[in-house]
Amino acid sequence: MTKWSPDSWRSKPISQVPAYPDMAALRNTEAQLATFPPLVFAGEARKLKKQLATVSAGDAFLLQGGDCAESFAEHGADNIRDFFRVFLQMAVVLTFSGSQPVVKIGRVAGQFAKPRSSDNETKEGVSLPSYRGDIINGIEFNEKARIPDPARQEMAYRQSAATLNLLRAFAQGGYASLENVHRWMLGFVSDSPQAEKYEALANRITDTMDFMRAMGITSDSHFALRETDFYTSHEALLLGYEEALTRVDSTSGDWYATSGHMIWVGDRTRQPDHAHIEYCRGIENPLGLKCGPSLTPDGLIELIDLLNPQNEPGRLTLIARFGADKVGDHLPKLVRAVEKEGRKVVWSCDPMHGNTITAAGYKTRPFDRILKEVQAFFDVHQAEGTHAGGIHVEMTGSNVTECTGGARAIRDEELQDRYHTHCDPRLNADQAVELAFLVSELLKKRQAGHTKHTQAAE
Ligand code: PEP
Ligand code: CO
Repeated sequence: MTKWSPDSWRSKPISQVPAYPDMAALRNTEAQLATFPPLVFAGEARKLKKQLATVSAGDAFLLQGGDCAESFAEHGADNIRDFFRVFLQMAVVLTFSGSQPVVKIGRVAGQFAKPRSSDNETKEGVSLPSYRGDIINGIEFNEKARIPDPARQEMAYRQSAATLNLLRAFAQGGYASLENVHRWMLGFVSDSPQAEKYEALANRITDTMDFMRAMGITSDSHFALRETDFYTSHEALLLGYEEALTRVDSTSGDWYATSGHMIWVGDRTRQPDHAHIEYCRGIENPLGLKCGPSLTPDGLIELIDLLNPQNEPGRLTLIARFGADKVGDHLPKLVRAVEKEGRKVVWSCDPMHGNTITAAGYKTRPFDRILKEVQAFFDVHQAEGTHAGGIHVEMTGSNVTECTGGARAIRDEELQDRYHTHCDPRLNADQAVELAFLVSELLKKRQAGHTKHTQAAE
């Protein structure tokens, strides 16, 4: 294999590259970014890798989620807080029911670049370059906005830094303390179908905390009750930006992507001899790999050989995104190949990207299909004796109408009410918490199965 360097991807074939009209300006921006401070630190990425290793061993569950695409327009403290609150609600539901730690990774503070199925978008006979995410061009349908502008990379970097700063404060500064489990309720809209269920769970947690306090275990004495580890992730799509933020860790001498704790390779850019795999193989961060219907078992093993040759647990998360009706056909073959070869991976389920349809002129995802894919994912792992390790979802803390269905039964005609996403449709706050409760039922069932199994063995 040829020698890796942060720029060795440049000599490989590459897809999904924006056509920057001014290459000199692009080089200037990249040179500038290379002088900026790292957004995350190598030690944090290593800690996340260790936590993901516990997921691959079957001892924890991964929750990964956030916007499909972050936008400059939606950047603000309230949005970040609302997202984090819903994320914590989901995590607490999953932890409590699954009786397992939940590893928390946001699609946030760097999730700006989008792969597109077509280079152009045509509306009423006018054809313009496709929108590729705020880090590249503007979403407005006019010629000027759609020109890739390198200055946007610097804006995305600064927005990521500000977002991460607030998230760190929330995670470590008291907001995420389990003593606030009732305060996180404030975000529920008044008639939320999930509010009652959540409150019952919050009451049980508060009772448990009261008991523990009586035993001398308090959030003052035990930081795990008052702080949480929260990590960031995004698709490593815009490789010039990634390269500029790739740094040597002074402790280990290894290369790390410092744009986020975990980065993943998308379903459209995972060709083994292409640029995106080349870049990712050389950095030490935990990696994700999207696995869609076109991936064969041999193709998967080839990619695992490239991305995790040492078979290091926690290094690689396989994010299955087949679509509710295809999981049963595709996932078992991949799981068996991985098992046969003895590869240590985290299996996570992205029930969003294989279930996109168009309704009433909007890209949407029916909630029941999302749930069906998660259910099928758990069934396959149950049948294969492997660990259904996590979920990967597109979600927001706001009350949008982008995915149909859920307990509040959003209808096709309501999509237009609050359809704000810059790319794919996200679960709204209610739907996200509802999904967490439904997944928690699957975790409980699995837990009960384990207990029976252990008792039988005794
Ligand atoms: C995404 O996660 O937003 C995405 C584009 O996914 P995929 O690569 O699986 O299509
Ligand atoms: Co998406």
